[in-house]
Amino acid sequence: MKAKIRLDRDFTVGSVDPRIYGSFIEHLGRAVYGGIYEPGHPTADDMGFRRDVIELVRKLGVPVVRYPGGNFVSGYNWEDGIGPKDKRPVRTELAWGTLETNQVGIDEFQEWAKRANTSVMMAVNLGTRGPAEAKDLIEYCNHPGGTYWSDLRAANGHRDPYGIKLWCLGNEMDGPWQMCAKTADEYGRIANETAKMLKWVDPSIETVACGSSSSGMATFGTWEATMLSHCYDNVDYVSCHTYYNNHAHDTKTFLANNLDMDYFIKSVVSAIDYAKVVARSKKQVNISFDEWNVWYHCNEPGNHKHIERWSVAPPQLEDVYNFEDALLIGSLLITMLRHADRVKVACMAQLVNVIAPIMTRNGGGAWAQTIFYPYMHASAYGRGTALETKVECEKYDTRKYTDVPFVDSVAVRNDEAGELTVFAVNKNLDEDIAAEIDLGGFEGYRLVEHITMHHDDVNAVNTEDAPYTVCPKSDGKTTVDGTRAEALLGRASWNVIRFKK
Ligand code: AHR
Repeated sequence: MKAKIRLDRDFTVGSVDPRIYGSFIEHLGRAVYGGIYEPGHPTADDMGFRRDVIELVRKLGVPVVRYPGGNFVSGYNWEDGIGPKDKRPVRTELAWGTLETNQVGIDEFQEWAKRANTSVMMAVNLGTRGPAEAKDLIEYCNHPGGTYWSDLRAANGHRDPYGIKLWCLGNEMDGPWQMCAKTADEYGRIANETAKMLKWVDPSIETVACGSSSSGMATFGTWEATMLSHCYDNVDYVSCHTYYNNHAHDTKTFLANNLDMDYFIKSVVSAIDYAKVVARSKKQVNISFDEWNVWYHCNEPGNHKHIERWSVAPPQLEDVYNFEDALLIGSLLITMLRHADRVKVACMAQLVNVIAPIMTRNGGGAWAQTIFYPYMHASAYGRGTALETKVECEKYDTRKYTDVPFVDSVAVRNDEAGELTVFAVNKNLDEDIAAEIDLGGFEGYRLVEHITMHHDDVNAVNTEDAPYTVCPKSDGKTTVDGTRAEALLGRASWNVIRFKK
């Protein structure tokens, strides 16, 4: 099969906000306890953080990590997690039916973020609590000193303010599963008042309002328009959340799910822009795609683990990702890059153990799942200006989608480094694709490397014993002649083709 990919330095989508390579840690399952934190582990540092996990997080290059939830945040008392550890209460955690020991709280997480070379994106509880507690939290985190909460932070050993810049106004507040879920009017009002108060304490912050929990919600669209009618001028982003599955064991349909994400982004952009018109606002609200991933393996027949109610850090939502998941993750990253003008923050959900690119065993190893790699590549080489690629290739139909291009691609130009990277997925499971790439306007660029990722078995996985079963190679076949390149996109493959001036 053949394809043509045309790109030009002027096919600009927008500048890539590095925060689209963010992730998410929730107090859920073994994300915190047994994931990032395990005192007594052979690699634990002086605070009990697993150094092997920190190393993998650093490899991913994660600019921002959303914390502490997720559904968890809607019942969280942040004050439970500060001060002497032996005085911290153990609480019932209603989102996931477990016990929260509070041995890790905001002070520890902020320190972990520093050590992992990332920053905190804080979510506040707008379920069981409200604007007052959120205001106390930002005062604790960001106020320089001389007030009750900022002095308490200093007394707890943290004199310097944390300077947390991104604040989520609750989580999935439209979902009936959420503690104290709200109507769009109720939520819009409380989000507005909370955003105002947070910004009065620290005007340098940005806020994220909860969009619909998914595009499948009955109120999708009206939720966005209604809640924004209350808070448009005080919020900076609307959240999007989506998780894909292949319960149907239909790989062709599964790999086309990026079309759904594309539709989702365009729809939320339309709802935001409608709200902007109604608000007569000059301000541009954008998207924070702060939960996205594949999530279903742990719910497949045979994989379901019985979780004892009120246990501490049980193995919840531990999806083991296969090769086809990595291909879809590549396509989802490409899709977000194609909307780099409006998607300014995104968080792969989640980071460690819980539907995550990094897995650990308590007392044992830490390893990279298949989905780790496209995420790492995009984070490393997808910084700069996103460029649209015009692709001519054959298309296919599936049970759910029609006209799915076999080749999915985007390019990123990094003028500072003199680099150009083409990301491409070949979704044809049977045939290689010979792609002719027209590098219009990119004269004098040479090939640095063509990274590929392929496995003959779409169900192949990485495990602690065989951690490199599915991993990238720098063995792709691309040649360059002037501004024309010929690249072989192997069947079912993820490709990162790097050029440099
Ligand atoms: O990421 C797992 C859960 O999915 C989060 O807690 C919630 O926000 C979403 O429904």
